[in-house]
Amino acid sequence: MDLKKFLADYVTCQSVSSDLTSESGMANAREYLIGFFNGLAIEAREVKFGKHAAIFAKTAQKPNKPTILVYGHYDVQPADEGELWTSDPFVLTERDGRWYARGASDNKGCHSAVLMAIHDLMTRQELPVNLKFILEGEEEIGSRSMPQLLRNMQDELTADFALVVDTCSLDKENIVITTGLRGIVGCEVKLKGQDHDLHSGYGGCLLNPIGALVDLCSALHTREGLVNVPGFYDEVAPPHSWEREQMKRLSNLDDDLKKNLGIKYFKLPNGDFSAAETMRFLPTLEFNGIGGGFQGTGIKTIIPSCASVKISCRLVPDQNAEKIKNLLAEKIRNLCPREMSLEIKFEQTSNPYLFDVRSGKNETLSRAIKITEKGIRSTFGNPPLYLREGGSIGLVSMLKEILGMDSLLIGLSTAKDNIHAPDESVEIAMLERGRKFFREFFSGF
Ligand code: BES
Ligand code: MN
Repeated sequence: MDLKKFLADYVTCQSVSSDLTSESGMANAREYLIGFFNGLAIEAREVKFGKHAAIFAKTAQKPNKPTILVYGHYDVQPADEGELWTSDPFVLTERDGRWYARGASDNKGCHSAVLMAIHDLMTRQELPVNLKFILEGEEEIGSRSMPQLLRNMQDELTADFALVVDTCSLDKENIVITTGLRGIVGCEVKLKGQDHDLHSGYGGCLLNPIGALVDLCSALHTREGLVNVPGFYDEVAPPHSWEREQMKRLSNLDDDLKKNLGIKYFKLPNGDFSAAETMRFLPTLEFNGIGGGFQGTGIKTIIPSCASVKISCRLVPDQNAEKIKNLLAEKIRNLCPREMSLEIKFEQTSNPYLFDVRSGKNETLSRAIKITEKGIRSTFGNPPLYLREGGSIGLVSMLKEILGMDSLLIGLSTAKDNIHAPDESVEIAMLERGRKFFREFFSGF
């Protein structure tokens, strides 16, 4: 099966999970996946516990074989910055050895490499493991209904470990086995003054919600850029010494990161950590969007009735999402001027995840890691690196907390891919090597 053709058809499904008008794109993506599985005589169905169904599939399960739960997400981020794209975000376009499209990397492209490898093995009747699949449709909106899905399908989901191909590597020569993910707490904060806009001619004696909101926001960090919420750092665990040593050996991580992200400078809140360490080992509080008042062209002389901001915190081990939620809400309540009313609406939450590669408690997983190390070396040229990630994948900590299942995270994205941004792309050779690697991976059992 042609990887390019498979992905090209897949990315035309506009499966933007956050967009209420994308129902049909979501349904198309699900239908496409079910078609793929049925083509291989793999049983597949939709399972729905929230807004967007997930696809659950499984091969005929044979006794005495390892069982791997393959995870991916078919939903993508919006491409609403349409005019900033060089080509149509929902048409796979090839330029300079890369494929461009929303989802080309995160995550359609990456899990397509795995699906193609499985296709290769199954059509040759050479698949030596049992496979189960969860392809989620709510990852980009925080995997809100995943806990319920995991609880309800506990028995059906039993597996030795999960295989998650939704993280980053350094480049196509240096593949990363991800050992940690940050958790997340997201919320929208709304400040309300009067219940309708007022002519600003009445101004001078009135509180302005935009000004109050900006004050509130700027009080959430110290000058150095640390998060200014009491107790926020209390449970931040320091990284292992092997992690820092490994990162020190990779001396140009920060320069490469700058180049790949196309940025000019870093702002480091803690001088002990490089940028590559900061994004992995420290928690954050970021403003993701702000609004209020008149946003049209020209001017409108008003004092707006309200203003709002979207905030998300990235959490690291051993921070706890529920605790951070409470600390943050309390701080924001304290910062709200008495005269205004405040609304805090929490959205995504997930706990951070740390994977103990060396624990050896799960025999099948230990075996999988050995197979992975060998396969990565032979396919990509170098042994894998063991690094944490700055991003989050809700399912991974939920799987651990609810089913006690560990995940093996192997990354095919890179910092060059512009995930979540205009002109998202993926290196073709990365997906092709990925396909070859995953063939070896499954065969290795
Ligand atoms: N593939 C990413 C996660 C990721 C990004 C891992 C970069 C490693 C490096 C995933 O699709 C994602 O974007 N997750 C969201 C989750 C959030 C909406 C709860 C994220 O991290 O923002
Ligand atoms: Mn994403």
